[in-house]
Amino acid sequence: MEEIIINTGKAYPVIIGNAKKEIEQRLNPENSIVITDSNVFKLYSNYFDEYRTLIIPVGEKTKTWETVQYVYKELLKLEASRNTIIVGFGGGVVCDIAGFVADTFMRGCRLGLVATSLLAQVDAAIGGKNGFNFDGAKNLIGTFKQPEFVICDPELLKSLPENEIKSGLGEILKYALVADPKLLNFLNSNADKVLNLQTDTFEYLIESCVHIKAGFIEQDESDTGIRHHLNFGHTFGHPIEQVETIPHGVAVVKGILIAIRLSVMLNICKNNLYPNVLKVLDKLNLPVEFVINDTILEKIHSDKKKQNKDEIRMVLIHEIGNTELCDIRFEDLENMIDNL
Ligand SMILES: NC(=O)c1ccc[n+]([C@@H]2O[C@H](COP(=O)([O-])OP(=O)(O)OC[C@H]3O[C@@H](n4cnc5c(N)ncnc54)[C@H](O)[C@@H]3O)[C@@H](O)[C@H]2O)c1
Ligand SMILES: [Zn+2]
Repeated sequence: MEEIIINTGKAYPVIIGNAKKEIEQRLNPENSIVITDSNVFKLYSNYFDEYRTLIIPVGEKTKTWETVQYVYKELLKLEASRNTIIVGFGGGVVCDIAGFVADTFMRGCRLGLVATSLLAQVDAAIGGKNGFNFDGAKNLIGTFKQPEFVICDPELLKSLPENEIKSGLGEILKYALVADPKLLNFLNSNADKVLNLQTDTFEYLIESCVHIKAGFIEQDESDTGIRHHLNFGHTFGHPIEQVETIPHGVAVVKGILIAIRLSVMLNICKNNLYPNVLKVLDKLNLPVEFVINDTILEKIHSDKKKQNKDEIRMVLIHEIGNTELCDIRFEDLENMIDNL
């Protein structure tokens, strides 16, 4: 069992260990209500047998105001109070909904998270951001609410579909490139263990990413500055995710490749980073190619207009552990893409 303390005002632990044991020690059925999705409920309802439970449908399409309203109504039926601990037990979607509801129901009740997908364990459950999609825009409505604890159990990953493992690996690659050359070397030397879902390997990966994210959150809890570096790969990742309908982290990998190529083109990044990253991606069966079509560019353009911004904010890279926020005019970006 490993515990990483996140200190954003009130410190709380991220526990990497056995979820069943941690739940027994930290929670009791009297004052807790579990929110989960139907997939996770089918697999792991024995982890919270005695708890009042609220099940939401699976996937991104569930992150809506309608779901939030449904959860509020069910919480009333279950006689939740401000002392109730809402426990989000699931992937990023469950954690985002549980976090928002816990911060707003009765002006805020208590929150604990049990992250069950790799992406949630290394990213979504860490950092206190929550939210849901609104009017076609991702995560448009949300708050910051730090939980009282986050539990990440690598054993739960064994039931995760391969594509969802890849999605989490995409975000892990992001952390490695933004902050930790050792982590990239580890992925390179241990790809077989990663692909075999070895528990101790995943413990190391989760621990490394949580440490990195904690460092950014502690400096910039409200996401107005340095935390933007964690958007590396996301300027192109987001539209690629929508256009190609692939898991978020897999699209982020393609976004990372584009960001590195642009950085090389601008002469701020050494040529050897790109092939080194490709080598690791190949070993992990992650994408090594990308396509940028007009629809992807149009999405970036229309996002820029929606946000009333003149320039696109991109995270570029000098070398591993040294990224830079750059504001680029859309026309300049288009020209660079033409020359990639
Ligand atoms: N709040 C944040 O800081 C933050 C950061 C990154 C991502 N996110 C959000 O997270 C969401 C993506 O998270 P996700 O990839 O976990 O998606 P998800 O919650 O939809 O989970 C992916 C799939 O895996 C299933 N699943 C989860 N755990 C499982 C397990 N142990 N075994 C088998 N199946 C399991 C789910 O039912 C779902 O079908 C997005 O909505 C994104 O916006 C939030
Ligand atoms: Zn992401």
